Amino acid sequence: MTSPSITLSLVDTDPAELAVDAIVIGLYSQSGEQAADAGPAGALLLASGAESIAAAFDGKLTETLALLGAAGAPGEVVKLATLGTVTAPVVVAVGLGGEPTGAAPAPETLRRAAGSAVRALAGARRVALALPLPDDADAAAALRAVAEGALLGGYRFAGYKTRPQPARREPVAEVLVAVPDAGDANAQAEVARAQAVTSAVRLTRDWVNTAPNLLRPPVFADAVAEAAREAGLGVEVLDEAALAAGGYGGILAVGQGSEAPPRLVKLTYTPDGGGNGKRVALVGKGITFDTGGVSIKPAQGMWEMKSDMGGAAAVGAAMLAIAALKPSVAVTAYLPMAENMPSGTSYRPGDVVTMYNGKRVEVLNTDAEGRMILADGIARACEDGADYLFETSTLTGGQVISLGKRIAGVMGTPQLCERVKAAGEATGEPAWPMPLPDDVRKGMDSDVADISQTNAGMDRAGHMLQGGVFLREFVTDEVAWAHIDIAGPSYHSGEATGYWTKGGTGVPVRTLVHLVEDVAANG
Ligand code: BES
Ligand code: MN
Ligand code: ZN
Repeated sequence: MTSPSITLSLVDTDPAELAVDAIVIGLYSQSGEQAADAGPAGALLLASGAESIAAAFDGKLTETLALLGAAGAPGEVVKLATLGTVTAPVVVAVGLGGEPTGAAPAPETLRRAAGSAVRALAGARRVALALPLPDDADAAAALRAVAEGALLGGYRFAGYKTRPQPARREPVAEVLVAVPDAGDANAQAEVARAQAVTSAVRLTRDWVNTAPNLLRPPVFADAVAEAAREAGLGVEVLDEAALAAGGYGGILAVGQGSEAPPRLVKLTYTPDGGGNGKRVALVGKGITFDTGGVSIKPAQGMWEMKSDMGGAAAVGAAMLAIAALKPSVAVTAYLPMAENMPSGTSYRPGDVVTMYNGKRVEVLNTDAEGRMILADGIARACEDGADYLFETSTLTGGQVISLGKRIAGVMGTPQLCERVKAAGEATGEPAWPMPLPDDVRKGMDSDVADISQTNAGMDRAGHMLQGGVFLREFVTDEVAWAHIDIAGPSYHSGEATGYWTKGGTGVPVRTLVHLVEDVAANG
């Protein structure tokens, strides 16, 4: 199931004369005495980019927007019929919050505003954005943010309805972004990058939103492999026989409870000219459905566990963006996939599993399945050789408890965790470094095997950290690694907001692409 497509291009003609269904401008909220003195309209300030539209309204635009209840709050969208003042029949003012100190708002503010506006314009076919874009050193980041926000806010999952939905408004198909110079090579490059990256984010959302009966491991593996081959990546798919022959005990243990067998997909990007000598490995959790297995989950909300392959989806899709962007660094991706089901063939609490790297793990809770398949993926990645390993997974409910639904938890080599945090800041996908304490590792000592899969007494203290501490056992010393727990931010259960639509968010695709580009540029 793929979502309706959307295109984006640049224009540098007067926004007031654009033949589009709607034109979007930015609106700041002002506070202070000056604003209060000037009445309701004084509390509003049009952002740059809106000059010619404002002129066409004879200076009455802010006043009219104020009458319509606009306050310039972030995410607010106010629509206004233009009645012939400008070519577009509708002007849309999107709130940008308080007036920024610099030339333009922060990139994430622009990203969310562009997303809110394009989302609210579903039903229109072709829209233009005349938002504030600085022409200084921040120009590229601002344009990137606007383009990404528009392309992501315009996402909608196709779904499975058998009847046409006459009342449903189709997402925007075509976005124009007003810039000072549409022919500028840097601006064009930002648009191309935004298209590659948001295609990957949208594909991740599609995979996450796909019903879990339609995306079991063999189907998911084929979908990733086919897309990767088309993109020119190297592709290797290990089926259940190859996994058994290779000794992938963790992937096999989790997969054995389902009649849909497990897979390990390996994708290889080889840069032209050999790259900069560094090797990046990406690993993503691909549990196509997590019932918990024998340690079964409660029924309430279990359907959201169709999103438990969000890490693998993000890694696979990020590889497609990497193939398009061609950074000069070698990147290899590992996507272990399994369905965690309770059945007569399931693995069970008390089992001891010999993992790919030879370590033996005592299973205590079959619902801690992510770390079982990831451990094999990580060990294989280290065996193949890597300088940096980034692994991402919907690993623990503890991540949501400690950091919430927006901020990913990062554990691993401290310097690399800081790089992930910086990448999150740059992309609008926040991530926060967390520790790997000795006492948490001590709590996972097993009486019978090398390590327990969770705290031996089932103590949930440091729950998220237990996952990180376990995975560390499968990373070899020479590899710098970071584990990115995305249990919260990968899936949005609430109403759409900004450029986040309901369901899969596509986190952390933008972080992964940014990190690969960072390693390509800086080693
Ligand atoms: N896939 C879940 C984690 C999860 C929870 C993701 C909520 C998204 C939202 C994971 O496999 C899991 O079940 N983790 C357990 C681990 C425990 C049994 C040690 C958890 O978090 O409770
Ligand atoms: Mn689980
Ligand atoms: Zn899981």
